[in-house]
Amino acid sequence: MTELFQFMSKQKKTTRKASAKRKSTPKQPAATSNIESMMHEDRVFAPDKEFSKHAHIKSMTQYKKLYKQSIESPEKFWSDQAKEELVWFKPWKKTLQWKAPDAKWFVGGQLNVSHNCLDRWLESDIANRAAIIWEGEPDSLTRPGEERTLTYRQLHREVCRFANILKRHGIKKRDRIIIYMPMTPEAAIAMLACARVGAIHSVVFGGFSSQSIADRISDCGAKMVITADGGYRRGSIVPLKKNVDDALLIKGEDGELLAKSVEKVIVHRRANIDIHIEPNRDFWWHRELEYVDANCPAAKLDSEHPLFILYTSGSTGKPKGILHTTAGYLLGAKMTSKYIFDLKPEDVYWCTADVGWVTGHSYMVYGPLANGSTVVMYEGAPNYPEPDRFWSIVEKYSVSILYTAPTAIRAFMKWGEKWPKKHDLSSLRLLGTVGEPINPEAWIWYHEVIGGKRCPIVDTWWQTETGGIMIAPLPGATPTKPGSATLPFFGIKPELVDDSGEAVKKGEGGKLVVRQPWPSMLRGIWGDKKRFKEVYWSEVPGSYFTGDGCRQDKDGYFWIVGRIDDVLNVAGHRIGTAEVESALVSDHRVAESAVVGRPDDLKGQAIVVFVTLKEGVKASEKLKIELRNHVGKEIGPVAKPDDIRFAEALPKTRSGKIMRRLLKQIAAGKEIQGDTTTLEDLSVLTRLSASEE
Ligand code: WT7
Repeated sequence: MTELFQFMSKQKKTTRKASAKRKSTPKQPAATSNIESMMHEDRVFAPDKEFSKHAHIKSMTQYKKLYKQSIESPEKFWSDQAKEELVWFKPWKKTLQWKAPDAKWFVGGQLNVSHNCLDRWLESDIANRAAIIWEGEPDSLTRPGEERTLTYRQLHREVCRFANILKRHGIKKRDRIIIYMPMTPEAAIAMLACARVGAIHSVVFGGFSSQSIADRISDCGAKMVITADGGYRRGSIVPLKKNVDDALLIKGEDGELLAKSVEKVIVHRRANIDIHIEPNRDFWWHRELEYVDANCPAAKLDSEHPLFILYTSGSTGKPKGILHTTAGYLLGAKMTSKYIFDLKPEDVYWCTADVGWVTGHSYMVYGPLANGSTVVMYEGAPNYPEPDRFWSIVEKYSVSILYTAPTAIRAFMKWGEKWPKKHDLSSLRLLGTVGEPINPEAWIWYHEVIGGKRCPIVDTWWQTETGGIMIAPLPGATPTKPGSATLPFFGIKPELVDDSGEAVKKGEGGKLVVRQPWPSMLRGIWGDKKRFKEVYWSEVPGSYFTGDGCRQDKDGYFWIVGRIDDVLNVAGHRIGTAEVESALVSDHRVAESAVVGRPDDLKGQAIVVFVTLKEGVKASEKLKIELRNHVGKEIGPVAKPDDIRFAEALPKTRSGKIMRRLLKQIAAGKEIQGDTTTLEDLSVLTRLSASEE
């Protein structure tokens, strides 16, 4: 989601030594016995009559009827939808081939995602409508940001030209391409061009480090990197190309370059800064355009052709490359965009997510463009140069639909009403949130201050793995309750189960699972079938396990409580505790570490780290800063710990498991008084709780 926190960092060449440590073993799955929602919220907001009258889905009766059909005859439902919504080169033979955990949708069919997002509109009124309205980060209060608008026709042309550049550099179907870009239209162009030729893109968030880039290249064997010289962020320049250069020099444990598969790097000129160009490897995007034309027919791809890999954190130190394919993903992204945001041709839709996250894939690029909508894209931060950035953009472009994250909303609340009040927000007609549970207070603020009490709020629950939104209100139909993502989308069958996999009683908490396959579901973890099965399909055999705890109220509404595994949600970013732990132990001074979350008013969760040091290493404030920066360098500034505590020993059970529950309590408690660098003696706690196993 919108990155609220500075992600600039200096990154140097590193030799990789901790990769073995990173492959830590999965931790214990958490028990469900203590899942309960803290929210006792009983306000209900019925949809506005006028809104419902014009909405795609107008009533609960209509929703319930369609939902019932979608669950009882899923293949018929999805097959009708796929015919209606997508443009096919060749029809499919079989709607679903399902043998858990492997799903194949629309088997035998052929289509192209970029054709469905672009070409299909060229013969219609939509051709000359804005596809992307882009606003760059302003240089200062007095110098506004750049503006660029690309119509569907223009976007199509740019995608075709860039796709020809890919071909010119030897890119073939199924080749993997890393995209490490700032929030400029070129990021979307690069993604769509990959889709056009059948290459598999893997977007890496611009706030991630060289190490993270190198790890991802190594995991997927990428042949090419698409990047920019630099990106603007809060008045400074993020040295993207430099980070890529560094990534290409990082060696793994075996002494080999992690990124040895990379043959070419294409560089978009954005920041106009001096960069290194390696002959025969690095090429300027704008120069390459001189060699190509705009004629590039979309490749005819199978329904299950891989579209992208997106890395996300899990409970081991190694991020998972979540794989999505063509037809099912696009159908999910398109339909959820249409019905949940109630997208109409006249809307100006703005999703504030970065392309580096799945939200930026499904709800900034693929979903809205497949609907022929107008998308706003903004390069910078919400509070630069001043905290009214978002509201001035809403006013300037008459944004009608805004999709952002609870963590951003809480920051806006903190900055104060005066910033949104400076602007005319009357163009807004619908608001959305995603990424983490929204606290009712933030929901009400969003509703009143931003939405002027007239805009429905869609709280959308989903994951990188699900490809599209799974649980959310339909704004013209579903009465909303602040803090609840409400009810499942068509064709989605979520259920709450206990530790034995049995459905829980109404009102009780449980693990959230999905009982039936759906078109936009992940098709696997890149290169790791075993982990795919273990993580998602073995907790409750035959069902997809989300990793979230949840409660259902008397009306069947879902209230997501949060992750029940060792994954934190910091400002809407998923961060694996094991990843941070292995980054810490890769510093030669650290003996052992344990990472836990602490509730945080702004970010949802903050990262608290307990560290034991090697013999002879002294705890100090300086070391704390160094370790923070080390984590920033290893993973990216998003993962920098908020609090580092040194300990003599970590509290462990007799069998050697770190007592995280205990550490969580300590982390949530008051700061240790006095000199914070002294070592905390947690071994006492171990003795006290030794009976806890
Ligand atoms: C995890 C997925 C999906 C795009 C952004 C994050 C949490 C997401 C909600 C919501 C409560 C939510 C869950 C989920 N989450 N949306 N509306 N209410 N929790 O994608 O990085 O794959 O993270 O984010 O814990 O499992 P992600």
